[in-house]
Amino acid sequence: MKFFPTLILSLIFSLTAWASQPSIYGKNGVVVAHDLEACQAGIEILKNGGNAVDAAVAVSYALTVTHPQAGNLGGGGFMLIHLADGQKVAIDYREMAPGEAHRDMFLDDSGRVVDQLSVRGGLAVGVPGTVAGMQLALDKYGSMSRKKVMKPAIKLARQGFQISYDLAYSFGWLNKAAEGFNETRRVFCRNGEIYMPGETFKQPDLAKTLKLIQKKGNAGFYEGAVATALVKSSSSYGGMITLADLQNYKPQIRKPVTGNYRGFEVSSMPPPSSGGITLISMLNMLEPMVFDSVGWHSAQHIQILAEVEKRAYADRSVWLGDPDYFSVPQEKLLSKEYARLRMTDYDSLSVTPSDSIYPLNDRDLAGIHLNGHESEETTHFSVIDQWGNAVSVTTTLNWSFGSYVTVEGFGFLLNNEMDDFSAKPGEPNSFGLIGNEANAIEPNKRMLSSMTPTIVSRDGKVVLVLGAPGGSTIITTVLQVINNMIDFGMPVHDAVNVPRFHHQWQPDVIYYGPGAISPDTAVLLKSMGYELTPRYGYGEVNAISRDKIFGGWIGAPDLKTASHGAAY
Ligand code: GLY
Repeated sequence: MKFFPTLILSLIFSLTAWASQPSIYGKNGVVVAHDLEACQAGIEILKNGGNAVDAAVAVSYALTVTHPQAGNLGGGGFMLIHLADGQKVAIDYREMAPGEAHRDMFLDDSGRVVDQLSVRGGLAVGVPGTVAGMQLALDKYGSMSRKKVMKPAIKLARQGFQISYDLAYSFGWLNKAAEGFNETRRVFCRNGEIYMPGETFKQPDLAKTLKLIQKKGNAGFYEGAVATALVKSSSSYGGMITLADLQNYKPQIRKPVTGNYRGFEVSSMPPPSSGGITLISMLNMLEPMVFDSVGWHSAQHIQILAEVEKRAYADRSVWLGDPDYFSVPQEKLLSKEYARLRMTDYDSLSVTPSDSIYPLNDRDLAGIHLNGHESEETTHFSVIDQWGNAVSVTTTLNWSFGSYVTVEGFGFLLNNEMDDFSAKPGEPNSFGLIGNEANAIEPNKRMLSSMTPTIVSRDGKVVLVLGAPGGSTIITTVLQVINNMIDFGMPVHDAVNVPRFHHQWQPDVIYYGPGAISPDTAVLLKSMGYELTPRYGYGEVNAISRDKIFGGWIGAPDLKTASHGAAY
């Protein structure tokens, strides 16, 4: 009786003997996130009978403590949920522009964008959504009390945790960068007496704030002492957020965007993120390509992806924005037929210059050419529970440590998400991304995002949960992991950990991480007409995949950035 399964297993083992082995495996539940403490917070909830949404809320609050570069109370994010019964839902807790925000708020009298105004200080701050988003997730899809899921974060803030190399390094540069932001330097940089790796970091102010939220829910953050201090801290750096803005903040439940790639169902974040539509549109353009005879990261492989990325990012620049303010042509952008038409000018032997690629193929919508600084922050985590519920969360302050404004006495940073709006239609933001009318600033509007929390399933069952930080590179990072797994047969931990590259239409350049393009491949690509620019690393994919051999789940943290996972 046992012969058949044993034979199958032996065959699988012999076929995969050469493959690298995963370090994280769980039969019941897995959490993959930037910090080990945050993963453990999630696993503790799962082991105590919580579901993946309960665990995700616990991880999100824990990251507020352990990963202040991106984990947050003062920012926002997106949560994609695929319940074991097949239900899929997206929770949008993206920040909103303050009620007094206006289209030209970052321009000077002569209509030029004022340097740094949308990235540092109070005007950069959007109305935070995380606390309300977590409450909505818990109310609608969780099973545990707020008291229970916030306990691990409060303990971490009160008792402290060991500072990692990565965090000490970030605090070190923050100390220099945040000159003039005294509360930030006091809380995170000990007023210039820099923290060393291995020291214990305690955050009593943050513990107090978390306790207030634990006790009062949304009222503990959007009203009362925290809200008053938030408005005061933001306005002392020139901000315009009011108490009314905080009270009016509303997270939204949205329908995920879905597509199909070689028999796999792909669900991802709808607008106001550009992530899902751009990802699915790129997969649609890739689907007719045959990869059987294409070498991984060969010139041909890189060329195909770069051409697909250029076309999808051109569309992103004009057609994506907050759907409550702008009519996004979602159906068209997601259709296979549109993808086919989009690739009719693709030539496998040469570059299609970005200058000749127009958004939605409309020549009147030509882009503007400028480069911008790239920031790599934001954080992604993935959770799976014993019932097969999956949660994919990407959350952010935008840049590392956001606007640098810390709410005085309450220990948390405010985002600089206003920079994700198009400060001046046609000009690029700090990621070099070009936006237009769809993403112009309006009161209470949500700024366009690239965050791409994604869940891939087959026959209705989850097979892959993933996402990444990395600003404009998020979407192409997620694309490459899916491409690596489905088209090149890599196991998830390899697909996540191999090097990556990126094209975003403008500037017309292929960026590549260490080891992503070999010197002889670079010669071939240059001879086709591509410009190549090296860049340090891409994103931090934190993924979970169904294990084909034992039937549980494999956690795949991105080891390039010292990410973590935990399982049971
Ligand atoms: N702030 C980065 C993003 O939302 O894409």
